Amino acid sequence: MSKILVTGANGQLGQCIKELSVSLDPDNTYLFKSSKDLDITNYQQVLAAFTLENFDFCINCAAYTNVDKAESDTQNAVNVNSTGAQNLATACNQTNTTLLHISTDFVFDGTKNSPYIETDKTAALSVYGNTKNVGETEIIKKAPKSYIIRTSWLYSEYGHNFMKTMIRFGSEKDSLSVINDQTGTPTYAKDLAEVLIKIIQNKPIPYGIYHYSNEGTATWFDFAKAIFEITKSTIQLHPIATEAYPLPAKRPKYSVLNSSKIKTALQLEIPAWRDSLKKAINALP
Ligand SMILES: NC(=O)c1ccc[n+]([C@@H]2O[C@H](COP(=O)([O-])OP(=O)(O)OC[C@H]3O[C@@H](n4cnc5c(N)ncnc54)[C@H](OP(=O)(O)O)[C@@H]3O)[C@@H](O)[C@H]2O)c1
Repeated sequence: MSKILVTGANGQLGQCIKELSVSLDPDNTYLFKSSKDLDITNYQQVLAAFTLENFDFCINCAAYTNVDKAESDTQNAVNVNSTGAQNLATACNQTNTTLLHISTDFVFDGTKNSPYIETDKTAALSVYGNTKNVGETEIIKKAPKSYIIRTSWLYSEYGHNFMKTMIRFGSEKDSLSVINDQTGTPTYAKDLAEVLIKIIQNKPIPYGIYHYSNEGTATWFDFAKAIFEITKSTIQLHPIATEAYPLPAKRPKYSVLNSSKIKTALQLEIPAWRDSLKKAINALP
């Protein structure tokens, strides 16, 4: 039996793991710690938590995820995404705990025009992407027993995300303009949660970086259109260019992830993003 610490447990990924671990992994023990229970920026607190309990795995769902706010609130983004990741890596290494850390497609600059593989050069365009990139580097340096799983455009029935914002707009607004020149892959956080549980349950796969997103590609416009089709909203949707909707943080134009490595390692069937989107919408309260 394994003992697993989940940090940032009240975020959308943390809540998906909480829900799924009950049915998918009843033989292992999961401890869920929110930001209030365990602040990953505080090394003394982190080390105390790891030395008190004998964890086999730590899944780090804690992150500073407000991409635009990070441009001005940089120190807090650094503290959580870079220093926090480093703190967990050091504590995991000291206590022989395997770390599963989540990273992002935003570590790439988006200049490629085919799906990014794990060994592609990172070159983040934003503070958020940079702080996540530094977090990855620190983990690789400090925790040899670690998995870094990069994912993209996460959404679920929990927390705040694009899907839930669009559903609200779909019932409040008559028309909406959505960016149609950034391409990536919407990923259902529950599908990712299932994969993280599989990594823990499976015969160990090699440590290192893995990409995981749902199958297929979309622009934000495509994503919004699918949401309105499924929810049968009559909102008028208009495609626009990035320049027409200026935001503080620069985003990659193309950040599709190639998930072949994890697919092969775990012998996964990865759901298409539209199929998972239907499931997420059906799961809404
Ligand atoms: N959301 C996306 O589109 C997306 C895309 C690619 C990758 N990712 C990555 O996927 C992972 C999960 O993202 P998510 O969407 O589930 O994020 P989320 O819903 O924003 O949850 C993040 C959680 O981290 C917690 N947290 C913040 N600072 C903390 C600290 N100092 N100590 C402990 N916990 C802290 C937050 O707690 P409070 O609410 O109390 O602050 C929140 O519950 C993250 O690593 C993220 O970078 C996300």
